[in-house]
Amino acid sequence: MKMYVAATVALFLLATIQTTPTAAEEQELSRDRRGLNDVPLGGSKPFDEKQAEEQLQQTLDKLTAGEGPHYKIVKVYSASRQLVSGTLTRIDADLIDGNEEQRRCIVEIWAQPWLAQGHEITFKCHNQPAVHARHSRSVEWAEKKTHKKHNHHSLNKVDHLFHVFQIKYKRRYANSVEHQMRLRIFRQNLRTIQELNDNEQGSAKYGITEFADMTSTEYTQRAGLWQRSEDKPTGGAAAVVPPYPSAELPKEFDWRQKNAVTQVKNQGSCGSCWAFSVTGNIEGLYAIKTGELQEFSEQELLDCDSTDSACNGGLMDNAYKAIKDIGGLEYESEYPYLAKKKQCHFNKTLSHVQVAGFVDLPKGNETAMQEWLLANGPISIGLNANAMQFYRGGVSHPWGPLCSKKNLDHGVLIVGYGVSDYPNFHKTLPYWIVKNSWGPRWGEQGYYRVYRGDNTCGVSEMATSAVLA
Ligand SMILES: *[C@@H]1O[C@H](CO)[C@@H](O)[C@H](O)[C@H]1NC(C)=O
Ligand SMILES: *[C@@H]1O[C@H](CO)[C@@H](O)[C@H](O)[C@H]1NC(C)=O
Repeated sequence: MKMYVAATVALFLLATIQTTPTAAEEQELSRDRRGLNDVPLGGSKPFDEKQAEEQLQQTLDKLTAGEGPHYKIVKVYSASRQLVSGTLTRIDADLIDGNEEQRRCIVEIWAQPWLAQGHEITFKCHNQPAVHARHSRSVEWAEKKTHKKHNHHSLNKVDHLFHVFQIKYKRRYANSVEHQMRLRIFRQNLRTIQELNDNEQGSAKYGITEFADMTSTEYTQRAGLWQRSEDKPTGGAAAVVPPYPSAELPKEFDWRQKNAVTQVKNQGSCGSCWAFSVTGNIEGLYAIKTGELQEFSEQELLDCDSTDSACNGGLMDNAYKAIKDIGGLEYESEYPYLAKKKQCHFNKTLSHVQVAGFVDLPKGNETAMQEWLLANGPISIGLNANAMQFYRGGVSHPWGPLCSKKNLDHGVLIVGYGVSDYPNFHKTLPYWIVKNSWGPRWGEQGYYRVYRGDNTCGVSEMATSAVLA
């Protein structure tokens, strides 16, 4: 991927030396820090620090992707934004420069998005000459701008990557029409991968996965989570979240280390994520209750749960109810997975676990989720899987607009949580450990680490669990 990025991102940079901030500029900066009310039209207004940090990170990523100045963010003190010809964002921050020295800097990002070279960045760091840089607003623009030979080269590059992809994932297309179509989707997905990488706020890397020749619609169908209608009661009780006995929650916890999580399974090309999410939850609860780790049957749910739609999707809440009505779950070995709906052949004498009901965890409260997980076991969740299609590892924290909290399309299982420290970046990333059902070759041996604390990709929108009988 690196090579592809390098081949298509053109960076435009002019580094010029300027004097340190003038008295007038200092005055201007101090005015920035005044309240909202005395700001005239066209004046600068305080700007959300988190958003400013995001914008700055994106800008730094774009610069370092080429040969731009290398800075890392340590801390953002304050930010303001001003409507100029375009917008001018001023960020007061501690940065680490290319020589690993930390400095207090005022960064100004002047954006004129309607212009081709629409971003001008100035770094004015304490005791340092100012540095001026510029980057183009988009890769597409850069692609258009670079001449034919370059285009030709990157086209070959895509062809080559596509060829490697076909071999690695054993793709055979029916005819040349399908081949062309898949190549087109693949090329589009390379752009999406780049966009995810450019805007990543955690430590995740996105690259070519076995889903790289699928459209997002095909991929979503394959995941197979239905949307829960907001106004309809789910029939689940509100989860009682017991307060944690000590003042502070453990920094990390992992049910895999307590022998409560089975091996990573693979749903295949069937939209049955919901069934895997549910069996994972029940496997955990059962192991914690009995001390015995067993795999339970998803196929029984595909065949016998008539509320859900087998390979065409379903909801975890429906499945808990169905298990209660059917009379329990058989073992995986007795009722093996076929990735296809068949006749129901549930045998009551082989029912090894029964369900009394289910609970819905409070929405948008990840602390409550942590407490519940510690006290009870793994949690079924729905999330937006946009960033999962191309996930290759790390703590995934995609930029909000690339992963809407409302578009939940995948059912998975939270089995633990932790915190990753990146001392070089002065950054700590809290995360959830998420068990997926796409086989052990996907992600981090079948697992996904997703940022914890700001409802990334909707992780806390649809958190549920069965209650065992
Ligand atoms: C149900 O399972 C039991 C135990 O394996 C077996 O003896 C019985 O024949 C099965 N019933 C049916 C209808 O298959
Ligand atoms: C989140 O849940 C915890 C534990 O149940 C509770 O103490 C806290 O008040 C909740 N926070 C919010 C914002 O609802």
